[in-house]
Amino acid sequence: MDKLQRTKVVDVLRRTDFGADVNVKGWVRTHRSSKAVDFIALNDGSTIKNVQLVVDPTHFDAELLKQITTGACISATGVLVESQGQGQSSEIQCRDITLYGGCATDYPMQKKGQSFEYMRQHAHLRLRTNTFGAVMRIRHHMAIAIHQYFHEHGFFYFHTPLITASDAEGAGEMFQVTTKNLYDLEKDENGKIIYSDDFFGKMTSLTVSGQLEGELGATALGQIYTFGPTFRAENSNTPRHLAEFWMIEPEVAFIELADLMHLEEDFIKYCVRWALEKCRDDLEFLNKMIDPTLLDRLEGVVREDFVRLTYTDGIRILEEAVKGGRKFEFPISWGMDLASEHERFLVEEHFKKPVIMTDYPKGIKAFYMKLNDDGKTVQGTDVLFPQIGEIIGGSVREENYDKLVAQIEERQIPMKDMWWYLDTRRYGTCPHGGFGLGFERLILFVTGMQNIRDVIPFPRTPKSAEF
Ligand code: 4AD
Ligand code: MG
Repeated sequence: MDKLQRTKVVDVLRRTDFGADVNVKGWVRTHRSSKAVDFIALNDGSTIKNVQLVVDPTHFDAELLKQITTGACISATGVLVESQGQGQSSEIQCRDITLYGGCATDYPMQKKGQSFEYMRQHAHLRLRTNTFGAVMRIRHHMAIAIHQYFHEHGFFYFHTPLITASDAEGAGEMFQVTTKNLYDLEKDENGKIIYSDDFFGKMTSLTVSGQLEGELGATALGQIYTFGPTFRAENSNTPRHLAEFWMIEPEVAFIELADLMHLEEDFIKYCVRWALEKCRDDLEFLNKMIDPTLLDRLEGVVREDFVRLTYTDGIRILEEAVKGGRKFEFPISWGMDLASEHERFLVEEHFKKPVIMTDYPKGIKAFYMKLNDDGKTVQGTDVLFPQIGEIIGGSVREENYDKLVAQIEERQIPMKDMWWYLDTRRYGTCPHGGFGLGFERLILFVTGMQNIRDVIPFPRTPKSAEF
């Protein structure tokens, strides 16, 4: 038998050299048979589209054909022909089929239209469905877009540690890393666990952000970005929180608030434009099956200028709305953190475009944000998006040593863990700033999916670490 090179489905569907022999390999989506002819829809993950295999059942072993069921893996060889059917330009007139793996009849992805919760319980197999294939391909393209954007703009990709001894956000939501025997923990006379004999000789955790080390990079290399896993032990069971997510954190020397906001807007628009250009088939599929407003929303974000709004003005708008009868689940007044419903009100109902909010009360933001002259607000900048709420959190950093120390002391953050960070302010301090984009929140927005658990292959959430 002739040994043909495999052609990926994405490539075979582009070919027009009808009459050529081709080989495809993949997983069977559907197999319809009639007396005269069988049709097999085959997908190999390279595209949302299937290639249609046309099979003359009289030329094949009936036992073999019986095993070619949804989910089975096959290799098929035949002639590429122009398709008579609708919805595809070419198909393969099969001459030979090899069965790599039949598929047991209890294959969990057999039925269409299963709930997303059901899919999560079968996350090891859901990747083979149309929806998750589309989401994962888009996820890939977004990662490439991010690297491309920063590379084009002269940022260096900077690797920050995942294991750390400092709490970058000062929020105490860290997973501990230890090799200690948890069944036999030695404590000192005050009842505190002794870490001096632990692997790192001190208490360590998984990072909640690479920012502090990123600042070390930016104040040496000028501008850097990180892109890596981030861990938060916050007990938030929401459609927008993961315990393990990926974050992108650019950090830039000599940047001021207005330019930082420009960077946030330019970057995010670049990513969305990239998706519209490179992920057309998958986006059209999601627009049809998941969210009919998706493409409009993506095009809107690329087109619209993001609103610049201070926290104080935002609160005023929300208070006006409450006076006018708008009901919110949570109360809101100056000094309080906005809930997602407040953010979405501003973005989806009031302005109907993305909002960059700035100048938050210092009490609700992290210790490193630059204090404004009013002594009350800090130069934080969050980007608020339709459907998502906060997609980016960033700030200009406090570069003044004394002011930074005052903030650290006010929050009772242990100074001894911060000495290396403070050194940036002692040795040639410079104005600088940056932001963090939650990768999965970007993917949520770009795909129109409703739950963050459905845009990462294997989600980690409270009480759930399967697969
Ligand atoms: O606002 P956050 O906490 O900011 C920081 O971590 C800063 N160090 C960033 C910086 O200035 N370099 O987180 C940044 C973004 C959020 O806007 C959100 O998109 C995402 O990270 N994020 C999460 N995404 C998924 N699950 C979670 N639990 C998340 N927590 C934050
Ligand atoms: Mg934030």
